[in-house]
Amino acid sequence: MRSQVVYESMFGNTAAIAEAIAAGLRTHGTVEVLSVCEAASTPAPSVDLLVVGGPTHAFGLSRQRTRLDAADRTDAPIALDIGIREWLDAALPAPAGSRAAAFGTKVAKPPWLPGSAAHAVGKRLRRLGYQLADEPMDFLVDGMTGPLSEGESARARAWAELLAFTEHDRIAHLH
Ligand SMILES: Cc1cc2nc3c(=O)[nH]c(=O)nc-3n(C[C@H](O)[C@H](O)[C@H](O)COP(=O)(O)O)c2cc1C
Repeated sequence: MRSQVVYESMFGNTAAIAEAIAAGLRTHGTVEVLSVCEAASTPAPSVDLLVVGGPTHAFGLSRQRTRLDAADRTDAPIALDIGIREWLDAALPAPAGSRAAAFGTKVAKPPWLPGSAAHAVGKRLRRLGYQLADEPMDFLVDGMTGPLSEGESARARAWAELLAFTEHDRIAHLH
């Protein structure tokens, strides 16, 4: 099974979840991991499973304004022009039968904020014609810039392993 993971990350937490997901997917096939900037300059993926995720900003997907806000909080370079929102807005409709999964990160600590990048990604993927392999999955960080909450990396890997197992099985039954 061939998978591609596309992620957006300002402080590295969603990137770490993307790598954990890739490790889980790798148990049942090949995986390519791309930042959204890399994905934007790469032809549309032709894979069995596309996994897309980003950080929750202002109750949903980042916008240029929230990316500017994030840039003030880190020395790491941040692409202001493109995020998962813009990448999915520009994406071509999914070929028939395409499968995908959505994930995101959000803060764990009270006050719990409504809204989830994972759910926003899931909605957009469905709109593009993808069938979702599972419900969008949120992973938690302890504060605005992280770190990941304890156990979240392992949970991401386990989630992806299960996804890979069920999708691999599905493909085997199609042939
Ligand atoms: C401008 C901005 C807005 C944010 N808004 C929310 C929010 O509405 N809900 C939430 O749970 N977390 C919010 N956060 C925290 C992010 O979810 C957190 O920074 C992110 O999960 C870290 O992932 P990253 O290291 O991959 O960027 C916000 C962060 C920033 C910088």
